[in-house]
Amino acid sequence: MPTEDGRDTACFPLVPAENKIDPGGGDVYNYSKGGLSMKTLVVYYSQGGNTEYAAEKIAAELGAETLRIRPSRAYPDKGFRKFFWGGKSAMMAEKPELMPYDFQGEDYEQIVFGFPVWAGSVTPPIRSFVQENFTALRGKRIAAFACQSGAGGEKALRRLKECLEITDLRAELILIDPKDKPSDANERRMQVFCDRCR
Ligand SMILES: Cc1cc2nc3c(=O)[nH]c(=O)nc-3n(C[C@H](O)[C@H](O)[C@H](O)COP(=O)(O)O)c2cc1C
Repeated sequence: MPTEDGRDTACFPLVPAENKIDPGGGDVYNYSKGGLSMKTLVVYYSQGGNTEYAAEKIAAELGAETLRIRPSRAYPDKGFRKFFWGGKSAMMAEKPELMPYDFQGEDYEQIVFGFPVWAGSVTPPIRSFVQENFTALRGKRIAAFACQSGAGGEKALRRLKECLEITDLRAELILIDPKDKPSDANERRMQVFCDRCR
C-alpha cells in the first residue's frame, strides 16, 4: 500500500516498532504507527513538563528515541526569578553548559527539536546543543516544535533556523501548553506534524 507521500510499504515485512530494518539503500528505517519512518531522535528541553509531554507523544507516534537535555546549572523554576533569569538568558542568546549527554549523530537521519518559547526565542539549552553538534547535524532532516502559553513561537522557530543555518524545517509546530492546557487542537496539530515527519 503506498503511503501518502508515495512510499510503498507493502514490500517490507512487518516487524515490531523497535526493530530496525535496512530496506536496501543503506538507510536505517523503523516501523512506527504510521508505517515505515526514518530513524528519528527527539531532542528537547523542558522546564515545566509541557515540552516533555509533547516530546514523548511525538516520539511514541514516530517510533523515535528521545534525548532530554538539561543545563548544568538549572534555571530558577518559580516566581519572578523564573521569568527574569530565563527571559534574560533567552534574550541574550546564551548557550549554557549542558549536563553530559550521549548523542551519536550518525545513528539518526532526522532530528526533531522541542523547546518552550522563552521571551519570543528558542530556549538557551537548545542553542548549546546545536552549537556543540553543528557538524553532526549537517545534512540531517530537521523538524521542530515550540511550546508557548501565548505568542512568540514563530519567531522562536526562526531563531532556531538561524542557529542551524537552514532556511526550512521539514515540519514545524506550535503548541499551547500541551500538558497544562490539554486541547483537541494541540492533539490534532501533533498528529499532522508527525505525518509530515514520516
Ligand atoms: C522565562 C520564560 C519565558 C517565557 N516566554 C514566553 C513567551 O515569550 N511567549 C509565550 O507564549 N510563553 C512564554 N513562556 C511560557 C512557556 O513557553 C510555556 O508555558 C511552555 O509551554 C512551557 O514549557 P515547559 O513546561 O516544557 O517548560 C515563558 C516561560 C518562561 C519560564
